[in-house]
Amino acid sequence: MENSAKIKPDQTRSDTHSFSDAEREALYQTIFSRRDVRGQFAPDPVPEDVLSRILMAAHYAPSVGFMQPWSFIIVRSDDTKRKVHNLFNEAHAEAAQMFEGQQRETYKNLKLEGILESPINICITCDRDRAGPVVIGRTHIKAMDIYSSVCAVQNLWLAARAEGLGLGWVSILDQKRLKQVLYIPKRVIPVAYVCLGYVSKFFDKPELQSAGWRPRLPLSDLVSFEAFDKTADDLFGEGLIEQLRKDQGKIETKGYCGDFATSA
Ligand SMILES: Cc1cc2nc3c(=O)[nH]c(=O)nc-3n(C[C@H](O)[C@H](O)[C@H](O)COP(=O)(O)O)c2cc1C
Repeated sequence: MENSAKIKPDQTRSDTHSFSDAEREALYQTIFSRRDVRGQFAPDPVPEDVLSRILMAAHYAPSVGFMQPWSFIIVRSDDTKRKVHNLFNEAHAEAAQMFEGQQRETYKNLKLEGILESPINICITCDRDRAGPVVIGRTHIKAMDIYSSVCAVQNLWLAARAEGLGLGWVSILDQKRLKQVLYIPKRVIPVAYVCLGYVSKFFDKPELQSAGWRPRLPLSDLVSFEAFDKTADDLFGEGLIEQLRKDQGKIETKGYCGDFATSA
């Protein structure tokens, strides 16, 4: 591609394959309004057809060698939720000890799960043997199957948001004991344990950001050229960095205003 600070979109975009503005807008809305939900779950049941669509979105995620290593354990019983919640309480107390001073106090006050309040919990797993010992694409980086299951989690998360449902990922759990509670076989890894349900509200910003735990990092500091941490040295790179600063500045001050699909 020719280096230029201002490449016109109509010269580079293939109109044949792009979605309409409204469709693209819906996608960006879903991405920017997705939140990790912990404390705002409503008890209303999730209908089967809605859950089916969300799970289908997860199942159509990309996977290394088309391995589809995931399974989905749907947890609805109070008994199972209670067992997992006990695991969380224990791990959460251990985790608090890993932070010092004021951070420990802040950590203790954060709500980091909605296991009992949400109507449905789902454990997304990765079966490392799903496609035999040699898998296209996993020959050199073994963790690619786990990354694939994470792709399914992200699809699930976004589909849930599009359906008006909140999802919260709970990772403060002893993995071995979670496997025992859910009778997960040895070769299978529990990749994610998530809480799902309708919500009273979606926050505008991540709760950890609002609580002052960590700020949203400037994307312009995280994009480099040709090598790790190598800054822009031509007009294209400088133009991109400038655009990233402008776009993120708007989102951080006003929130996402629905202009990604029309500003191209
Ligand atoms: C792999 C992973 C594990 C996470 N584990 C937890 C968790 O145990 N408890 C929790 O409250 N949030 C958890 N989160 C949610 C993050 O805290 C959250 O995504 C982040 O603060 C940004 O907020 P947002 O998702 O609302 O944009 C996890 C997220 C990911 C991707």
